[in-house]
Amino acid sequence: MTDTGSQPPRLALRGIGCRFGKVTAVHDVSLELRAGEFVSLLGPSGCGKTTTLRMIAGFIRPSVGTIEMDGATLSSAAASLPPERRGMSMIFQSYAVWPHMTVAENVAFGLTLRSLPTATVREKVGRILDVVQLGTLADRYPAALSGGQQQRVALARAMVVEPKVLLLDEPLSNLDATLREEMRFEIRRLHDAFKITTVYVTHDQSEAMVTSDRIAVMNQGRVEQIAAPYELYNRPRTRFVAGFIGRTNFLEGTLANGAVRFNGFSADARLFGNGQSNGRYVFSVRPQSIALRSEAPGDATRWVLEGTVAQRIYLGESWDYLVTPGGSDLQLRATAPSTTVFEVGRRVWICIDPAQVVLLT
Ligand SMILES: Nc1ncnc2c1ncn2[C@@H]1O[C@H](COP(=O)(O)OP(=O)(O)O)[C@@H](O)[C@H]1O
Ligand SMILES: [Mg+2]
Repeated sequence: MTDTGSQPPRLALRGIGCRFGKVTAVHDVSLELRAGEFVSLLGPSGCGKTTTLRMIAGFIRPSVGTIEMDGATLSSAAASLPPERRGMSMIFQSYAVWPHMTVAENVAFGLTLRSLPTATVREKVGRILDVVQLGTLADRYPAALSGGQQQRVALARAMVVEPKVLLLDEPLSNLDATLREEMRFEIRRLHDAFKITTVYVTHDQSEAMVTSDRIAVMNQGRVEQIAAPYELYNRPRTRFVAGFIGRTNFLEGTLANGAVRFNGFSADARLFGNGQSNGRYVFSVRPQSIALRSEAPGDATRWVLEGTVAQRIYLGESWDYLVTPGGSDLQLRATAPSTTVFEVGRRVWICIDPAQVVLLT
């Protein structure tokens, strides 16, 4: 739960779902954003991100559940406030800037619609163009801008009206890779400058990690986990989340008689905390959490397995090893510093810090 004090959350989704005929696109999604928070909806194509965003925007009415802003209901299965009365701005994947208007005119458009005094419009447009670093290009037409600059115009136009909530649907997917990476930081910088409550839809985990205060990971229409990037990476709750956020090793084991038996090796169950009942479990161990040693370490707090190097890839900044524990046919991926060099076939000790082994549900 987010602590919002006595204030209602800026935006609250309460058990919303959406069906298209027989397809349930979104299933029982609940999420609260406090004012000024940046939350991503992250998940593979088809998992229901856009549908959720369109329900928030008011383009689709939820089949079940409610959407509230500052404590007032915007959407329910019975009634829905139209998009233009929600105080939200939305940017789509195909961000359209108007080709017949200059940069400044594009950005001023929403303010002019609101009949603000000319001097106020000029001041607001000037300020936001400086922040998005387009001040010197105010009189250019979109055709004379790069893709990244056009995207900044779209962002400035959406933000200048100071929406209560900003909705972004894969806004960087039409940009090339380098620009996409640059714009992630740009989006976070803009957020830090204006603190507009934002829901950001993406299928790209790095994009979500860079931009977000919290990430809601979606899978098949449901939210599997909502957490800050650090917690999501280090404490994934489900197999799906662990596999979607970065790479990992899955270890399946059976707990009985105080030990967990894996494929060909076992570990003292106390290494993984206590209170678990006997049965089958799946654990996630990140490749960075597995250290390789040439000698048996004398450290009883670590889980140590003897094994051999099966494969290796040199990545410059690091080595990517596949190691096989003795007596097992598993291959564990271990990331090691570029100075840790082991030949293929070499005997190694695989050292795992139990604190970094995550029990999945
Ligand atoms: N208008 C629609 N009619 C029928 N099915 C739809 C419609 N919009 C989306 N869907 C289905 O709902 C699911 C979720 O779609 P969407 O929200 O667009 O996913 P995402 O944005 O995560 O890729 C998909 O299976 C998609 O085919
Ligand atoms: Mg989508």
